[in-house]
Amino acid sequence: MFYVFPTPQEIADYVSAQMFYRLQAQTQLVLGLATGSTMKPVYARLIKQLQENPVDLSKVYCFNLDEYVGLAADHPQSYAAYMQEHLFEHVPFVAEQLFLPPGFCRPSDEQCLAFSARIQQLGGIDLQLLGIGTNGHIGFNEPGTAFDSRTHVVQLSEQTRHDNSRFFRDRSEMPTHAVTLGLQDIMEAKEIFLLATGEHKARIMARLQGCAIEEELPASILKKHPNTKILLDEAAAQYLDPAQGKDYRDLLKQYTYR
Ligand code: F6R
Repeated sequence: MFYVFPTPQEIADYVSAQMFYRLQAQTQLVLGLATGSTMKPVYARLIKQLQENPVDLSKVYCFNLDEYVGLAADHPQSYAAYMQEHLFEHVPFVAEQLFLPPGFCRPSDEQCLAFSARIQQLGGIDLQLLGIGTNGHIGFNEPGTAFDSRTHVVQLSEQTRHDNSRFFRDRSEMPTHAVTLGLQDIMEAKEIFLLATGEHKARIMARLQGCAIEEELPASILKKHPNTKILLDEAAAQYLDPAQGKDYRDLLKQYTYR
């Protein structure tokens, strides 16, 4: 389950190759996408691959995991703006293929549930990308979130507000709430890649490796998922039990590249 790569770039190469391989199949594909620093090299590599080898993307749907409440889509720190900058404006998707949780005005429970339902109507997420917060959140499912949650509005934890305020000019601009896909929605994805890079993720990854499945560590639910791979760089893997961490080259052997 835990695969250790030398650097974030090798993870990005692997994940983008896996995405490209599925995109090439040209059957309907529902992608679950994340934002954050961890995903930037993945999208940069995928854009390059798609520019060098264009494929028909007309049967692809993208659902983002989360969005801040209260930021307009054109606010530079909104996740809508992040996706435009780091993926969508470089790839020929049309608006009807792209779904972001509605964040500008705090969505009602019905609007949140409609987001989860839309995913189900399209047959569910085929491949979900996840980062992880230093407190173990996935999406913005903070510690204590119910494992059976659907898309919902969440109050961001102090830890998350501290971690993410680096993206805002002033900490006071950092939103207090976000809307996120729920843990049950995430667990229904057919395949999941959780990525963790950098020394600042090392403690949470060691905790995740050693912990039981408990709501205090939201990412621990992934231990129950039949098709999840956790991809770490050496910096994030430094406190892992080496007996349990697998070398990334074992993973590369399992796939045929085209
Ligand atoms: C973002 C998201 C979050 C981030 C996590 C890690 O869409 O769902 O869970 O993946 O906070 O963020 P970075 O990659 O910036 O360390």
